[in-house]
Amino acid sequence: MQTRRVTDVIRLDHIWFRHQFAALEAARDDVEALTSLWTALSARLEVHAAAEETLFYPRLLHDDADAADDTKDAIKDHNEIRDGIRAADRHPVGDSVWWDGVIATERANSDHMDEEERGPLIEFENSASSDEQAELATAFASFEVEHAGARDISTANKNPDAYVVDNA
Ligand SMILES: [Fe+2]
Ligand SMILES: [Fe+2]
Repeated sequence: MQTRRVTDVIRLDHIWFRHQFAALEAARDDVEALTSLWTALSARLEVHAAAEETLFYPRLLHDDADAADDTKDAIKDHNEIRDGIRAADRHPVGDSVWWDGVIATERANSDHMDEEERGPLIEFENSASSDEQAELATAFASFEVEHAGARDISTANKNPDAYVVDNA
């Protein structure tokens, strides 16, 4: 059996995010469907970012001395995604201003996933051992189950510079 890798767990989440944003677009006129899709999607975006910040980026910083700039970019992007979610959640689901927030979230997330897939995921694959990949894959998946629905996690923005200093 092939060893599990945290980088693949992250990529699978990214694929799900792309599908769910497409599903939102397809449910455009159905407020009930939009509500349940957005509730699940926005919570998972928060939990995914928190899992990366708790488990993945600290380990990348440890393993790869050149990862500081990419990590700062990732934290900035996570903040933009959080801003988008908060902007949407200030308005009734389906309103045009709610869509503005959803679209801002989608754009920030889409750009961020592309960057993460081109940079940090590859860097980690080049620097981590297969044991570390497997250990983190399990920890990442467990974190997402434990905090499903964004329970008990902070959704506050983080200072990218302070984050790198604290986790270096
Ligand atoms: Fe990600
Ligand atoms: Fe991320």
